[in-house]
Amino acid sequence: MTRALVILAHPDMSRSRISRRWAEAVLDENDITLHDLYARYPDGQIDGEAERQLVSDHDRIVLQFPLTWYSWPPLLSVWQTEIMKRGWAYGPGGRALRLKTLGIAVSTGSNGRDYQPDGRYGRTLDEVTVPFELMAVHTGMHYLPPFTLTGARECDDATLAASALAYLAHIRQAEPRLIASGKDDDRARTVYTEDAGAHR
Ligand SMILES: Cc1cc2nc3c(=O)[nH]c(=O)nc-3n(C[C@H](O)[C@H](O)[C@H](O)COP(=O)(O)O)c2cc1C
Repeated sequence: MTRALVILAHPDMSRSRISRRWAEAVLDENDITLHDLYARYPDGQIDGEAERQLVSDHDRIVLQFPLTWYSWPPLLSVWQTEIMKRGWAYGPGGRALRLKTLGIAVSTGSNGRDYQPDGRYGRTLDEVTVPFELMAVHTGMHYLPPFTLTGARECDDATLAASALAYLAHIRQAEPRLIASGKDDDRARTVYTEDAGAHR
């Protein structure tokens, strides 16, 4: 059975409607693990080894967060830096994430029309979140289409409930829109003798 992991990064769950509803749906399911970064690390100090182990133990990883200044909450970036270790996630010997599946689940305050090519921002949520797709490419992961719920203030309870159900289906069954080849690229074959810790 595919083991799914949701990494939740919301700085203020006490005020959340969307992430809270999504998290509640996930918590009811035995085949999906929910890991709340802000609850686990209130001091912001992430245990990289524990996080890498958790990721190793799962096949599908979904990063859940509210869009925050067209970016994501800072603890998710810290988590990413801890996970993306050369020799583990990428580079020589770095194959821990290879052929796993990565996805994101994003809520926004602005409505969906704003995130259209001819909308207020002129950029789609695919474009805004492209760093996650590139993270998948860099580490040889499959990448899911983003799961989104826009217009948080206009979102009624029925929409929220439907979204939570759709979220569970997405976590379990969504088809990757980017399929990794499973082949090593040149960086993975290259043995660097200097700058062992450098990003490449
Ligand atoms: C500091 C901050 C920055 C935000 N930046 C954005 C943004 O750039 N774009 C956007 O559409 N919504 C933005 N929002 C709105 C949140 O994305 C929205 O309230 C959230 O996704 C709703 O989900 P929740 O109910 O789980 O909190 C921001 C909210 C906060 C508090």
